[in-house]
Amino acid sequence: MDVDIGEKQIQGVEQKVVLEALASMAARPGCLFLEVGSWCGDTSAILARIARERGGHLVCVDWWKGSPGTGLAEIAKKKDVYAYFWNRMKEEGLEDTVMPLRGQSKHAARILKEGLFDLVFIDADHTYAGVSSDINVCAPLVRNGGVLCGHDCEGRVSDYDLDFLLSGKEKNFHESVHCGVVLAVGEKFKDYSVNYNIWSVRKGGGRWKAAAPRLGKLKDKRQLPPIPIGLTSRHIVMRCGKFVYAAPRRLVEFDPSEEAGRIDPGVVKAATVAELEAIIGQKVEYSDARPVLSGQYRDFNFLRFNGRYWAMSKTLGNVDLAALDPAAVKELEEKGLCAAAGAGAEAEAEDWNELKRLVDELMHLCPVMREEGYRGFNIVAYKKMFYAFSQELGPFDIKTVDEAALAVFTLRQRCAVAATHEDARRLVDDIASLCAESGQKGGKNDDSGKTDHMNG
Ligand SMILES: C[S@@+](CC[C@H](N)C(=O)[O-])C[C@H]1O[C@@H](n2cnc3c(N)ncnc32)[C@H](O)[C@@H]1O
Repeated sequence: MDVDIGEKQIQGVEQKVVLEALASMAARPGCLFLEVGSWCGDTSAILARIARERGGHLVCVDWWKGSPGTGLAEIAKKKDVYAYFWNRMKEEGLEDTVMPLRGQSKHAARILKEGLFDLVFIDADHTYAGVSSDINVCAPLVRNGGVLCGHDCEGRVSDYDLDFLLSGKEKNFHESVHCGVVLAVGEKFKDYSVNYNIWSVRKGGGRWKAAAPRLGKLKDKRQLPPIPIGLTSRHIVMRCGKFVYAAPRRLVEFDPSEEAGRIDPGVVKAATVAELEAIIGQKVEYSDARPVLSGQYRDFNFLRFNGRYWAMSKTLGNVDLAALDPAAVKELEEKGLCAAAGAGAEAEAEDWNELKRLVDELMHLCPVMREEGYRGFNIVAYKKMFYAFSQELGPFDIKTVDEAALAVFTLRQRCAVAATHEDARRLVDDIASLCAESGQKGGKNDDSGKTDHMNG
């Protein structure tokens, strides 16, 4: 399929933990979840896995056209995003759990019953009008005791200057903030939770209260590190709450949402971009004349160049993107060391997130833990296959396991390889029943399958 939008994940492990906590809070046997805005199925897969555990289902409402005027809408004109979404659900063994409902959210909501859903997650049109409408049509669909939540809320209304929020409310994204989401949520609810940009409320006695998801060991934080607004030749510029910050370029991991991130003496702050420009004596812009380092994600540096965002593997060192000819760039792309996002005119926040998704896919070339401890096995996605390894093997680097070792592990029922996550689980089930018949514990065997390279 000619789709290179990649397997995506929402930002960082934190948002996954928050979403899982909310879904677990709402889940019950035979539960029904609703997602409004699914795109490639990143959040859908998280929600659907939890619904499936309880024998439940997830309805995914999306028109799969992207939100008007955004980078995603441009992608959807060229690529069959719905086909990608559905393939991914099948790959994850979720085709019997997920029920897509293709159409505009306000139309879809009309055919859904009040109080039907245990959880509704809103992540569609991010303008004030879009989010307000989705909250209004979805809130009645949540049962008493159920959860209503949504994506991309960088805080509470009181965290910001109201005029700033109002100035950005019709845009999808404005100066590092989804103003429409922050305003619509704050207007609709008095008592709500915001954790790592995910807002949530729970219905109790017909009233909405902060859902307060339990995040275990995860530090409770309202906001993820903001996406840059722009750059100067010396600074990266971000908004966080009531202030705009200019951080020296050397602080590539600058995070104004952390107190500690703001105290570097080189960081300048002001109430508006105009004030900031006056203080630093430079205009904030995305200069495309030279590639500029704008941040980093996983093992990649993110650069802004030629109206696009670029991810360059850190293993490349200080390679000069401007000096590379198209063939060299293509070669790096083919090796999974470089990726670009953006239509080429004016890169946006959507492109930044798109690039993160591409990086996630490149990282697919590296092992990714998909499920820990399924009947004593860890299921790892690697090179488009799913490997179930008995936990008894202990930690090791899958990249160092050669064919022969794999065959030995498989023979000893300590490993199974499958094309999908679900098939890997089925093979683990088979191993468990075989072991039960022969009186062994699933995946447990003698230790002679361990090799030197397993502790790498
Ligand atoms: C930000 S993406 C969703 C991302 C997804 N939840 C994830 O984390 O992977 C927004 C999605 O909402 C959809 N969308 C935007 N406006 C919509 C509307 N009015 N009705 C239905 N879907 C809409 C877009 O097609 C897009 O797929």
